[in-house]
Amino acid sequence: MAKARAPANGRRSPARLAALIEEREARLRSILESAPDAIVTIDERGIIQSFSQAAQRLFGYAAGEVIGRNVSVLMPEPWRGEHDAYIARYLATGERHIIGIGREVTALSKDGAVFPIELAVGEARAGGTRIFTGFVRDLRARRRMEEELLQAQKMEAVGQLAGGMAHDFNNLLTVISGNLEMLEPHLREAESRELLGEAAEAARAAAELSGRLLAFSRKEPLDPRPVGLNRLLQGLADLLRRTLGGTIEVELRLAEGPLMAITDPGQAENAILNLAINSRDAMPEGGRLTVETGREVTVPERGEAPRRLVTLRVSDTGLGMSEEVRRRAFEPFFTTKGPGKGTGLGLSMVYGFVRQSGGEVEIESAPGQGTSVLIRLPEAAAAAEAGVPGAATGPSGRQRVLVVEDDARVRRVSARRIAALGHAVIEAASGPEALSVIEGGAGIDLLFTDIVMAGGMSGIALAEAARRHRPGLKILFTSGHAEPEEVVEARGASGAGWLAKPYGIAALEAAIEALMARP
Ligand SMILES: Nc1ncnc2c1ncn2[C@@H]1O[C@H](COP(=O)(O)OP(=O)(O)OP(=O)(O)O)[C@@H](O)[C@H]1O
Ligand SMILES: [Mg+2]
Repeated sequence: MAKARAPANGRRSPARLAALIEEREARLRSILESAPDAIVTIDERGIIQSFSQAAQRLFGYAAGEVIGRNVSVLMPEPWRGEHDAYIARYLATGERHIIGIGREVTALSKDGAVFPIELAVGEARAGGTRIFTGFVRDLRARRRMEEELLQAQKMEAVGQLAGGMAHDFNNLLTVISGNLEMLEPHLREAESRELLGEAAEAARAAAELSGRLLAFSRKEPLDPRPVGLNRLLQGLADLLRRTLGGTIEVELRLAEGPLMAITDPGQAENAILNLAINSRDAMPEGGRLTVETGREVTVPERGEAPRRLVTLRVSDTGLGMSEEVRRRAFEPFFTTKGPGKGTGLGLSMVYGFVRQSGGEVEIESAPGQGTSVLIRLPEAAAAAEAGVPGAATGPSGRQRVLVVEDDARVRRVSARRIAALGHAVIEAASGPEALSVIEGGAGIDLLFTDIVMAGGMSGIALAEAARRHRPGLKILFTSGHAEPEEVVEARGASGAGWLAKPYGIAALEAAIEALMARP
């Protein structure tokens, strides 16, 4: 016969029981103190019974300030007013909304901040009454990250679209302005010339717009090299002062040393000017523009090397931006300026240029608090502080130029321009066609080729094949896209040049001369 045994947790002495309770309480307390989520317990009436360390940090109340108060103090209206009714309904009907489910709700901290939280509520019964335990997780950081990601994806998509359009427009504009240029000498009447001049001016403005779009979509051909930012700013200071007018004070705060960044100096100046003009527009009554340079080293994430960055901060004491404007300011065509006043491409261009340079840009601003735009660019080894040799200009003689371009209109314009510069021109519509010209022994001095072409052979592949046949052949690449790596490399050593579309006749002439002047 089995003996009845006392259950394991059977009768214990009061002293042991007290010790057990004490131990349990200590364990609970340590969970409350160390849990990363905020933990708040309430009773059936909604009165706060305990308030963990993390809860105190999150809501800004000391435990003593809220224990004994209704938990609705942690909620903004309208939830605050509804909470008692909600608990009552649950107790009466057992209908659950949050308990055991968890959901996203809105919280209110002591200092009045309203923020999203994830709330999970557990329920326990003790001594005939119920206790609800709320686990609260702050969602602000996650929200911010999601928003940033979304914004980045949007910018990427818009960039793709804008880049594609700008590229096609560039080809069209090359045709338009090229033909206008060729037309000019044929016009005698002043009136016709004036009309032509206006058309040419409009084409130029259009090319500038599509250039900004390209810059935004990071397809602008950049010429990155070590640039002394301080020196660049000193060179720009006069222009800034003149542009901003007498009511705005311009202050430069330059960090010590040469401060070398890897960037495209022309685009960097452009970016600074754009920022300065925005600041001017935001300071109609005058104020101060501060341009500051500095250095930063990034805190590396796992497995990453720290990065050395050069910083450029442009701040003003102007009207500042609302949160909505600040978030959208980099979007192309986003402007708060009236029609005809702003295109909304200034900051887009800055954004694209900085990102393409491997840097970052952010805006700090609030209404009435002024605006500060911070740009970070990769630092060049200080030793690279170097003068950049100017383009060589040599004697220009008559050359035989092979023009390779698959777009017939663009090809015609290029051919006419080159002829107008006094060179002999041979045209080819594709890589294979050009190769057969070269291999046929046409005695070409210069191969002028588009990079992206229909017909299965890129300009780069053509150049390689041509060089095999004619080592030392001078090659000038052109494209509406960014300059490819291969061209950047080829440019250094081997008598290759680069011309970004759209180009004017002067740029074309300079590029040909520079190339022919090389040994
Ligand atoms: N320094 C600033 N202070 C206040 N608001 C600014 C500042 N810079 C930009 N903004 C806001 O951001 C918007 C976008 O700026 P962005 O430079 O891209 O375009 P824009 O200045 O309106 O036109 P664009 O530069 O093409 O002439 C502006 O319309 C303005 O509302
Ligand atoms: Mg602007």
